[in-house]
Amino acid sequence: MITGLDTTTVSKPENVAKKVHIETWGCQMNVADSERMLAMLNKENYTLTDNADDADLVLLNTCHIREKAKHKVLSRLGKLREIRIANNPQMKIAVTGCVAQAEGAKLLKSAPGIDVLVGPGKLDELTHLIKKNASSGVAEMAIGFKKTGNIGKEDTTKIKAEFTPSLNGKNKVSRFVNIQQGCNNYCTFCVVPYTRGREISREPEAVIAEAAKLLSQGATEITLLGQNVNSYGLDLVETGKIPATTNGPFVDLLSAISDLPEIHRVRFTTSNPHDFTKPLAKLFGSHPKMGRYIHLPVQSGHNEVLGRMKRKVTIAEYWERINWLREQVPDIAISTDLIVGFPGETEEEFQGTLDLVEQVEFSFIFCFKYSPRNNTVAKRMADQVPEDVMNERLARLNAMQDKITIKQNLAEIGKIREVLVLYESPKYPGVYYGRTQHYRLVKVNSPNRNITGKLIDVKIFQANKTAIEGSPI
Ligand code: SAH
Ligand code: F3S
Repeated sequence: MITGLDTTTVSKPENVAKKVHIETWGCQMNVADSERMLAMLNKENYTLTDNADDADLVLLNTCHIREKAKHKVLSRLGKLREIRIANNPQMKIAVTGCVAQAEGAKLLKSAPGIDVLVGPGKLDELTHLIKKNASSGVAEMAIGFKKTGNIGKEDTTKIKAEFTPSLNGKNKVSRFVNIQQGCNNYCTFCVVPYTRGREISREPEAVIAEAAKLLSQGATEITLLGQNVNSYGLDLVETGKIPATTNGPFVDLLSAISDLPEIHRVRFTTSNPHDFTKPLAKLFGSHPKMGRYIHLPVQSGHNEVLGRMKRKVTIAEYWERINWLREQVPDIAISTDLIVGFPGETEEEFQGTLDLVEQVEFSFIFCFKYSPRNNTVAKRMADQVPEDVMNERLARLNAMQDKITIKQNLAEIGKIREVLVLYESPKYPGVYYGRTQHYRLVKVNSPNRNITGKLIDVKIFQANKTAIEGSPI
């Protein structure tokens, strides 16, 4: 409990129906966390509303990965305070996620008006803190991580019993399952080990039970989530909770999920190149449910920069993994994350990144300007790259990738692709959106109105940088 930070709002009694508005920033992990919190809040009589203006509770699930992400949260908090004063005096504000963990009590002081603050390691305490705040009238906070034990056993039974609502009502087809929390790697630029804690894997039975539950609720695609998703289970093997096997715990888990009845596709993110194994590449070749797409962050195309970042693989080793994948699935779509302007990045080192992008021919890239984060080693490095140089490099990198993406999308025209239909446009009935096995977004016009969640064959007739369009055949 934080004293001296009185909030002025008055809460409704516990048993009265209430509305929660949830805003989620950042990675898919946060989306999965928001859904978990919504499930907890549903049990407390909260239903989801799109509108903050009439919400009893506004929950901001935040991201701290780059400075810009944090600023967005702070400006949203300011706006919410205005809404509360002008139209909605009973509104409670909860801040969860990585900004809550990283800033803690500092945030309560600098952004007054927050009622509840919960870090990603303490989400289970959310509803308890909301109730506590309702009676105490002062801001309540829980941050930090479980130091030992895994998050699996105790939630096996809970998961089986629980309905996990979809945060985004329009997509009930493709759902996330969190299989691992945290990261042990301490790349020198990254704040995740500080905001998400050490790697902890959930036990396989809990994950499989949750995936089966989501499939029984109508999902047909499951994406397994973790910060280093393919390092999944190494901690469980180390502590003797599960046995060591030939293919390793992640491939075993993926195989089990892929074999579940009713499932059309299995995906995972974010994988790291260092624990990426040959059996994982082989699974893409042998299991039709695996899709033909992988996100494999490399961060830079130059070994010197990778060394300063304390990444664990070299460019040659990154290529080795790509070659394993292409031996199994020659046309596999690959995407990556890249940082431009890491401290000390020279023009020659940046050229290494451009060369890698050109040679690998990624299907898409997510590239970011380096952002110095508190606690990280890179923040203290000399030679921080000036903003204008970063902007110019980012533009060159994006321009290079745009050419590749357009070329690949245009090459889709005339092809017949298997599309998993994800949702119908809320505005234009009969217009559907789905993804190919290669994860390309496809717009489909269909007179048959019963195709959401289904796999259909689509002939592509049009393409641009961001999407392709086809007709069902
Ligand atoms: N586990 C993943 C990374 C997850 S963080 C991996 O192994 O690579 C998501 C992405 O945010 C990273 O891949 C990185 O490209 C970007 N990122 C992280 N910290 C950053 C920083 N300080 N500045 C800019 N981008 C950053
Ligand atoms: Fe971050 Fe590196 Fe872990 S990028 S999430 S510290 S693997």
